[in-house]
Amino acid sequence: MKLFANILLAALVGIASSVSFAADEHAAASAAAEPAKPAKPDPAKGDAVFNATPANSQSCASCHNADGNSAIAANPKLAQQHPEYILKQLQDFKSGKRKSAIMKPLASALSDEDMRNIAWFVGSKKVKPGFSKDKDTVALGEKIYRGGIGERQIPACAGCHSPNGAGIPAQYPRLGGQNADYTVAQLTAFRDNVRLNSLPMTGVAAKLNDREIKAVADYIAGLR
Ligand code: HEC
Ligand code: HEC
Repeated sequence: MKLFANILLAALVGIASSVSFAADEHAAASAAAEPAKPAKPDPAKGDAVFNATPANSQSCASCHNADGNSAIAANPKLAQQHPEYILKQLQDFKSGKRKSAIMKPLASALSDEDMRNIAWFVGSKKVKPGFSKDKDTVALGEKIYRGGIGERQIPACAGCHSPNGAGIPAQYPRLGGQNADYTVAQLTAFRDNVRLNSLPMTGVAAKLNDREIKAVADYIAGLR
């Protein structure tokens, strides 16, 4: 019942967003002559910035791979992620709303246009599928993901991130195939009030224990 309500909510939010998108387009069309509107994202330019090595730091690709399929478990895969979500994270790193000693200086060096181009570049790449590794916890992970834990008010992840982990464009990020170590780190950071850039996720993670976090992260790695 709870899962159904979440899906319904997610669907309603989705409808609302597609309506407002249509309105945005309309506004953009009537304001076409105004120079202030951000340019259409250019994934080819995003690719160039993502893979370039700046004078005194590392390229994005050195940690996230040339196509955003980060091979190092601590680094998130960015490929096929919804561009709006990537853009928000880069803005949050730059403003400090999302804390990361690694990403803060890197994001701060990017212009708004770079961020948009990069977001639409990695979003256009196919995510490399991952695998669940722990046979002993996969059932617990699946239960939490699909149904939540009703008696402890932990909602089903699927209600917002969709049953196959694809998320909902512009609203809820893709999780499917993500590196489990990275997902564990993020859920722990939400729970312990270290990652503070999302109220919904702070609430969702608040009651998860370490074993549940590991189980659901391992299950998510295998979702496709
Ligand atoms: C030294 C390795 C390193 C480099 C270089 C690097 N990143 Fe990251 N990136 C990380 C790590 C680690 C995280 C996770 C941060 C955290 O703890 O929340 C991350 C997180 C991110 C996220 C958030 C993804 C999500 O799912 O929320 C985005 C977007 C991102 N990086 C984009 C970039 C871009 C664009 C560049 C180049 C300007 C870049 N990164 C360079 C290591 C790196
Ligand atoms: C009410 C909707 C909702 C539910 C239910 C929900 N999430 Fe989320 N989740 C979000 C939103 C919104 C974000 C994006 C946060 C942001 O903008 O920084 C997010 C982000 C995340 C991230 C960070 C992704 C990244 O790349 O850094 C993880 C991991 C995550 N959720 C896991 C889960 C898990 C596991 C569950 C179930 C226990 C769950 N979520 C349930 C809405 C939800």
